[in-house]
Amino acid sequence: MPGAPGVGYGSRVSALGVFDPASAPADAIVEVATLALAIAAGIFVTVVGLLAYAIVRFRARPGDGPGEPPQVYGSDRIELAWTVLPVLVVVVLSLVTARTIYAIQGAAQPPGALEVTVVGHQWWWEIRYPALGITTANELHVPVATGADGAPTWIDLESADVAHSFWVPRLAGKTDLIPNRRNRMWIAPREPGLYVGQCAEFCGTQHAHMLLRVVAHPRADFDRWVAAERAPAAIDPAAAAGRRVFETTACINCHTVRGTVATGRFGPDLTHLASRQTLAAGAAALDAVSLRAWLEDPDRVKPGALMPAMQLDAADLDRLVEYLLTLR
Ligand code: CUA
Repeated sequence: MPGAPGVGYGSRVSALGVFDPASAPADAIVEVATLALAIAAGIFVTVVGLLAYAIVRFRARPGDGPGEPPQVYGSDRIELAWTVLPVLVVVVLSLVTARTIYAIQGAAQPPGALEVTVVGHQWWWEIRYPALGITTANELHVPVATGADGAPTWIDLESADVAHSFWVPRLAGKTDLIPNRRNRMWIAPREPGLYVGQCAEFCGTQHAHMLLRVVAHPRADFDRWVAAERAPAAIDPAAAAGRRVFETTACINCHTVRGTVATGRFGPDLTHLASRQTLAAGAAALDAVSLRAWLEDPDRVKPGALMPAMQLDAADLDRLVEYLLTLR
């Protein structure tokens, strides 16, 4: 699975890997979930077993008289058992859950941890690395946490509009992104690879297309990615016509391409758009065909998308696609 570009389409649910943790907070959550499941399974087997026993043992037999069998009321022992046992189960599960929550939320940020700010938007993820001067979208790149030069990632979560929820099951539990509030969480992926996730709080019509990718790199690869992202946008003379279309259309009011007149903040930063695997927060793979369809009519790719169709003619669309794909 690591690095497979197609993961997230069709196989989305299985690829989430709720029971396949790859990071410290997710390990602890799977432990609690497994314990709760084991207890629930035990209760299920006990109840169904007793029910089956009662059905067979006390079934109606030929020769039974008419009317109800003798009705028995009150058994202190049984009533005590079915009161005390559930209370114990609830207490044990509460304590284990509370211990896990405190352990995860109380973890101190180690020196050297990577700091990222993720801002939820309808319906995409803004990803900023304040200390590195990088802004990207929908694909969070981090170093693996293990090894001599590894580091966990601490994430500040904010929202630009409504409540969203950051959820990458193999890395950590869900944490909400709430307007006018800053939540924190952390991830510590052990292995390099691609970890898929999605918004887990209903946030409007395209909530289901608010997908998220976390790419964990060995340190050297991560440093190369950082260097590439910090570089200004590529200027390819062959795409000058497309660049002119971009810079003279309302694109620049909402998008930033560093080094150009485009400094909008409402939509995703496009400085290195073509380095990303997906488009429109995972609604489509990033290639010339889907990019053109998206620019022609975003609503057709992602109904309700807040990006308007720019009513460009076919030639300008082709030029614009050509230009955007040079932004590696
Ligand atoms: Cu954002 Cu659901």
